[in-house]
Order: sequence, then C-alpha cells, then structure tokens
Amino acid sequence: MGILVEARGVRKSYRHGDLSTELLRRVDMSVSAGEMVSIVGPSGSGKSTLLYCLAGLEVPDAGEIHLMGVDIVRARRGESAKVRARHVGFVFQQYNLMPSLSVGENVSLPERFAGRRVSRKDMCDLLERVGMGGKEHARPADLSGGEAQRVALARAVASGPDIVFADEPTGALDTANGNVVLDMLRAMADGESRSVVMVTHDLEAAARADRVLVMRDGKIVHMMTRSTSREILAAMEKMEPREAAEGAMLR
Ligand SMILES: Nc1ncnc2c1ncn2[C@@H]1O[C@H](COP(=O)(O)OP(=O)(O)OP(=O)(O)O)[C@@H](O)[C@H]1O
Ligand SMILES: [Mg+2]
Repeated sequence: MGILVEARGVRKSYRHGDLSTELLRRVDMSVSAGEMVSIVGPSGSGKSTLLYCLAGLEVPDAGEIHLMGVDIVRARRGESAKVRARHVGFVFQQYNLMPSLSVGENVSLPERFAGRRVSRKDMCDLLERVGMGGKEHARPADLSGGEAQRVALARAVASGPDIVFADEPTGALDTANGNVVLDMLRAMADGESRSVVMVTHDLEAAARADRVLVMRDGKIVHMMTRSTSREILAAMEKMEPREAAEGAMLR
C-alpha cells in the first residue's frame, strides 16, 4: 500500500455557545508507507487535533481522511474502530494509561481489543526494550511521567501496527530515554510498509523524520524534507519569530 493516511481539506472547529473556534483550517497532507513525518508548530496550533482526526479518534467537520484505504470520515463507527484496532497505534500526549490495570495489562490491551492475545513473553520483551523491564505488575499511578510515557509507547507498538501516531512521545523523557523511543519509531518507518506520524516540540526529535510539517493556526504552512534541527527552527522563525521560539526546544 502506498499511502497509509491522507487528509484532504480537513476542517474542525469547536463551539462554545455562540462562539466557534477553528482548530483545523483546510489541512491537506499524506503519509506514505516507510515514511516518518514530524509535525511541529506553536502550542495551540492544532497538532493534537490533527493527529486525533488522522487516527479516527475525532471526526472532522469537513474534508476527507483515508486511513489504510478506508474513508474514515464517512465509514460507520464500527468500521473505523476496526481499522484503528487492526492498523493503528497511538501514543497520547497525556499517556492515557488505564489506571485500574497493571502496566502489563495496559500494554496488552490494544491487542485484546483486536481480538488477539499478546504472549507474556512479548509483553515483557517490549517493556524491556523501553527500559521498563520487570515493571509489568506496577500500577500507572506509581510511575513517573517518563515511565508512563515509555509504557504508552510500548502499548502503541504492541499490536504491530502499520501506522503509529505519537503525540509528544519524548516530552517527559531525558535524552537517553528519548533516544530509545525515537530509535524505535525511526526503526518502524525504516522498513517499507509502516509509517510514523509524530508531533513534537523537540526539534532534534523532529529532525529524525523524513519530512517535517510546520503547523500554525490550524494550517500546515510549510513542508520540508530531511532537515536539521537548525533548518527546522529557521523555518519556524520565518513563520512567526516569537511564537516559534517559545514553542520550540533546541538542544
Ligand atoms: N475539546 C476542545 N474544545 C475546545 N477547544 C479545544 C478542544 N480541544 C482543543 N481545543 C483548542 O484547540 C486549539 C488547538 O489544540 P491542540 O490541542 O490541537 O493544539 P496543539 O498544537 O496540540 O498544542 P500543544 O502543543 O500545546 O499540545 C487550542 O487552542 C485548544 O485550546
Ligand atoms: Mg498537543
């Protein structure tokens, strides 16, 4: 399959009483198999909202989204849920681990939703890879932010998804653990069949991608192929110097 996710003319707004705020204003983008794409932009520019729409977790007001070849805007809820369960991994900005389940149960959950079972060994191996070996019985409430974030990554990749959406997946991590996570995401997209879409404030992380999309005020205002963190910062500064500098982190 060539293109794993594609958005055309996607719009999304929220209404508070009479007031309506446009979060996404005609977004067009696509991600091919074997590609890692980063999305950068100031806080509030709509990055998380776009990721939710691309993954079928939110429904846009207008426009089209094709995920794994399925028109998820028009598909019935059940059908879009099936596409998600079979093909998608999602790392939430706030981790969204289930508090009543152990770490191990959290990691195994998406597979069970997809009607499969994760072997205990696979679950433990995955925790080991993210530096959380032996923590399968821990409760999410007892984890640090960085630990919870690594469990969230393990959960997102446990079912062997074709496309992983990761919202600030290194936001709570130190450099070493951040690199573990980035290496895993990068390795996924280094094959020919799978893709990663990652939102990040960390421009060093963004620079690991094959393509970088710069968002501002609900639109993709700039697209660049393989770029260094300095080139990405320069592009953001060209868009809006003050906000870019506030929103970006350059190590
Ligand atoms: N459910 C909602 N209802 C109303 N407004 C919302 C809702 N979700 C998001 N917003 C608003 O939409 C805008 C875009 O939000 P979004 O979370 O997509 O931004 P972001 O680029 O991910 O920001 P950050 O970098 O801080 O995570 C923000 O101004 C936010 O307050
Ligand atoms: Mg966000």
